[in-house]
Amino acid sequence: MYKVEKLDNLGRGIVYVNNKITFVSNTLPGEEIDIKITKEKSKYNEAIVIKYYKQSNKRVDSKCPYYRECGGCDLLHFSYDGTIDFKKNKVKDILYKYASLDINVDIIENKNKYNYRNKISLKVIDGNYGYYKNNTHELVSINNCLLAEDNINSFLKDIRKININNGELIIRNNYNNELLIIINTKEKVNIDVDYLKDNYKIAGIVVNNKKYYNDDFFIEMINNRIFKVSYDSFFQVNRYICSKLFDIVSNNVREDEIVLDLYSGVGTLGINIANKVKKVYGIEIVRNAVINATYNTKINKINNAYYMLGDVGSTVNKINDKIDTIIVDPPRIGLDKNTKSNILNSDAKKIIYISCNPMTLARDLKDISEIYMVKKVWVLDMFSYTEHCESITVLERR
Ligand SMILES: C[S@@+](CC[C@H](N)C(=O)[O-])C[C@H]1O[C@@H](n2cnc3c(N)ncnc32)[C@H](O)[C@@H]1O
Repeated sequence: MYKVEKLDNLGRGIVYVNNKITFVSNTLPGEEIDIKITKEKSKYNEAIVIKYYKQSNKRVDSKCPYYRECGGCDLLHFSYDGTIDFKKNKVKDILYKYASLDINVDIIENKNKYNYRNKISLKVIDGNYGYYKNNTHELVSINNCLLAEDNINSFLKDIRKININNGELIIRNNYNNELLIIINTKEKVNIDVDYLKDNYKIAGIVVNNKKYYNDDFFIEMINNRIFKVSYDSFFQVNRYICSKLFDIVSNNVREDEIVLDLYSGVGTLGINIANKVKKVYGIEIVRNAVINATYNTKINKINNAYYMLGDVGSTVNKINDKIDTIIVDPPRIGLDKNTKSNILNSDAKKIIYISCNPMTLARDLKDISEIYMVKKVWVLDMFSYTEHCESITVLERR
């Protein structure tokens, strides 16, 4: 029998087998279990539970029938409060361990604990639609996803009208329950568009990067701002938490500031604060997202935000204005070296770092915090019941 000591950063329980660290998913701290080792490496094992002798009072029944197999969620066996404590401590511990930052972290909970995702990506293999099993390319066929918005789940009931056997299917849903369907496949497609448009509001269908039906974008709305979002442009997957993100950014800028919004996507963060600040510059690498951002300034009647296409590391040199505040919202890999050194060599008084990966956040803050002092960190539960954490860190020049 083994006792689960704590959770690792991926939400797996940790037990020791002959002093070797062993990761066991679907376990919680304090639980007493028997295990079967499934992978033996020189420095660690992975195992599954074969028997629970004692279960945690934070354990809940997973509401998802695919939970044991599907690699999508990690924490559905954990009470929501438990997941919130886990995330708060995870970010705090990572910042302490990898950036020597001892900081209190505030957490913003999700409003809808389930059915909050406005986008899902499914694999299609031999006519079955689903997610991969954890760390494999084996498909778990699904017809409902507990994390996806209700309208996406309704659509999943009619998924066969898409009529492809192999490829990838991305379903995006907007604030008005209009669907943008994106398909990548090597097959000839024969989608039952008549059925789909009679039964759903279809903003558009895009096949292999080409418009197949209607539009190749949809319109999103956050905090009464409207955003055109092309099929290949990023948008936050959780509208409620995105609005909280907007509020925090807005509360941390002032009227006299010129703001640089790096990794700007369709211009969301910059457009949200444009009326409050002096000027906004945005830089983004996806062409359609930059075109969207420029269009989004117009539909939101903003005339002091400017968007540039390019890599953040090199394009920033094209800006001549003196920047007061730099917002960065990079992908999971975090800041590239050029961007980090641009920040360190800048005159900016404030940095607002939005991150979806605490490990790369800590790596970057380790350097940035030598010149900028961390003022506040929020963790936002953008991805409830998964181990993933969104965060915002506000730093001010020392
Ligand atoms: C996490 S998203 C944030 C987008 C936007 N801030 C938002 O909240 O909607 C990261 C964005 O960075 C862009 N990106 C990734 N690498 C980049 C690079 N090297 N230079 C510029 N933009 C990049 C991606 O295309 C994506 O739009």
